[in-house]
Amino acid sequence: MTSPKRAQWNSRTGFILAAAGSAVGLGNVWKFPYITGENGGGAFVLVYLVCIVGVGVPVLMAEVLVGRGSRSSCVGAFRKLAGGSSPWLGVGGLAVFTSFALMSYYSTVAGWSLHYTYLSLKNLFADVDFAQAVQHFDELRGTPALGIAWQVLFTALTVLVVVAGVQKGIERWARIMMPGLLLLLLVLMIRALTMPGAGQALDFLFGMNWDKLTAAGVLEALGHSFFTLSLGMGAMITYGSYLRPRDDIASASLATAGADTLVAIMASMMLFPIVFSFGMEPGAGPGLLFVTLPQAIAQMAAGPLLSLAFFVMLVFAALTSAISMVEVIASQLIESFGMARHKAALLCGVTIIAVGAFATASGTWFDAVDYLVSNWCLPLGGLGIALFTAWRVDEALRSREFRSGSALARFYGTWLWTLKYPVPACILLVFLHAVGVV
Ligand code: TRP
Repeated sequence: MTSPKRAQWNSRTGFILAAAGSAVGLGNVWKFPYITGENGGGAFVLVYLVCIVGVGVPVLMAEVLVGRGSRSSCVGAFRKLAGGSSPWLGVGGLAVFTSFALMSYYSTVAGWSLHYTYLSLKNLFADVDFAQAVQHFDELRGTPALGIAWQVLFTALTVLVVVAGVQKGIERWARIMMPGLLLLLLVLMIRALTMPGAGQALDFLFGMNWDKLTAAGVLEALGHSFFTLSLGMGAMITYGSYLRPRDDIASASLATAGADTLVAIMASMMLFPIVFSFGMEPGAGPGLLFVTLPQAIAQMAAGPLLSLAFFVMLVFAALTSAISMVEVIASQLIESFGMARHKAALLCGVTIIAVGAFATASGTWFDAVDYLVSNWCLPLGGLGIALFTAWRVDEALRSREFRSGSALARFYGTWLWTLKYPVPACILLVFLHAVGVV
């Protein structure tokens, strides 16, 4: 039944590190803190945690299950589990398209983090004031050639890892970069927590200021729980398809979501003390990472070193995520067209750069694709995978996959019920809100 040629992770830990690598990305370090800032802190964080546990984790388990149950790439997984050609294949096709679309501008921001790593190495932030920091960032965005150069380098690194394969590339680099990321983040967080603004930051993050929370904030938390766990676009299906038959899907998914949440919280506990210590605005928005932070860090003791640590960490986070986006597309090309891995990965890289260069060069394309991905593709993909797993996948296969070797087997019924009713209802709500119907 299982094709002998299909790659597998070397261990359950290998899967968890790779999947956590996909989940932990710019979303955790960049987006989560700034939407937390915009939504007033504490209560938003709590709602976000509820969304992760109640909606994100069940869908994550569903994706890993569809992957392992089919041992196929994205489209093939739907074909196999639907028992042939069916409209469900469209969900798989949408996932591959979304991976491509997201990668086309994710690589832009990832390229910025490479650029800022380079600037930190050259110690270019010393004595930079706020206006100059803004100018640096505007210059980068206003000079497409510069942005594209870094984007090309970043995409090339991603492709190299994918070319090396599941164990020797993806798993191996996740084993290096994920512990490295955690260590760097830990050092930065501890340093930040010794700053004068730490108390205020912790109050902001963990104090329950319910009056600041809006309905839109709740839906934003729900939407972000999808994005941050890399759901709705086939990444976890693809990674799940490499999970060994004896490994426990439910607990591996929980560990993945736990690691992702931990990093999001740690990143916030690192960023907000700096923000408050320098009297900056917590709701500063997307500029937080590339304007506020470098300028603030530069004023601290050992600033250049901290700044380097920060941007290297950001590169690790972005790289392990980008690897999984490219793997979704490459593994599909390998399966559908019998391409060799290196050719498939290379083709992805070249196409991503061709399209991504537009995203980098034109700010409007960037925003338009982000809108399409976040508000249409991810909710629709997530809804598709939840409905497919709950209502279409064969009960015997589903139950066997969920329970095999699992300490959480007794939660099968709860998980399935959640996936059948509340999860689709919640996703539908997010979707209708995102496209402006409610
Ligand atoms: N989870 C990633 C982050 O937080 C972003 C992301 C969304 C992603 N969907 C993905 C990464 C699919 C890889 C594959 O930054």
